[in-house]
Amino acid sequence: MIELSNLSKSYARGKVKAVDNISLTVRPGEIFGFLGPNGAGKTTTIKMIVGLLRPDTGEVRVAGIDMLKDPIAAKRRIGYVPDQPQVYDRLTGNEYLNFLADVYQVPDDVRRERIEHYLEIFELKGAVGDLVQSYSHGMKQKLVLTGALLHNPPVWIMDEPMVGLDPRSAFLLKDLMAEHCRQGHTVFFSTHILEVAERLCDRIAIINRGRIIACGTLEEIKEHREKETLENIFLELTENEGIPVSLEDHLS
Ligand SMILES: Nc1ncnc2c1ncn2[C@@H]1O[C@H](COP(=O)(O)OP(=O)(O)OP(=O)(O)O)[C@@H](O)[C@H]1O
Ligand SMILES: [Mg+2]
Repeated sequence: MIELSNLSKSYARGKVKAVDNISLTVRPGEIFGFLGPNGAGKTTTIKMIVGLLRPDTGEVRVAGIDMLKDPIAAKRRIGYVPDQPQVYDRLTGNEYLNFLADVYQVPDDVRRERIEHYLEIFELKGAVGDLVQSYSHGMKQKLVLTGALLHNPPVWIMDEPMVGLDPRSAFLLKDLMAEHCRQGHTVFFSTHILEVAERLCDRIAIINRGRIIACGTLEEIKEHREKETLENIFLELTENEGIPVSLEDHLS
């Protein structure tokens, strides 16, 4: 469902190598967790998957479609939730959702049903007539989630989607993600909450300084390692974070 091959991206004219030659495949029916310290390259990778950033090198395929060659077709199959819920402040929730439904060409009767469905789940019905500028962070996040799912995309790509959600909403989102994958679809999401990754994900990748340093099921990642928990493994694998690259190269 998602195939990344030899993906790289630098910023500041090559001075910052944010993503360094990563390859991974996310299969249909899988919830895939993307972990890594701050600044590791998660958001950069996600923005390349959804076609917001152009890779320096490498390929992205979503549902078999090459993102660089046919971005519109690929984007139709993606529900994307960015790391910050950026919504037009001067629209009402309803206007925002209908705007997105227009962009994704969702027919009137279908959109009405889906908007109703997600607003009910996220308890946003009372606020949807208000301007977005009056929403709390969590309410904006739930509006963005609703908007991202209106065109019923098979591939959900979410950058720290639980941030700002109350425990009930986070629980409901996890449930929606699991149900989506039970139907044979795909979820790829980044998170700093290791318990969520541990409990929810079929497979996990850990990225550190732009490189994938572990990838597989939790059992595979734990295999041949003395550490018992994902937290311990994460801490061990990423502990050289902060050491300048040149010094680390010198030490190894
Ligand atoms: N627009 C940009 N211009 C320059 N450097 C950037 C830009 N965006 C990100 N970077 C750098 O690229 C690297 C990866 O950043 P990225 O946002 O992908 O990390 P992340 O894993 O999503 O981190 P976090 O967990 O904090 O969200 C960092 O070193 C960051 O400083
Ligand atoms: Mg990020």
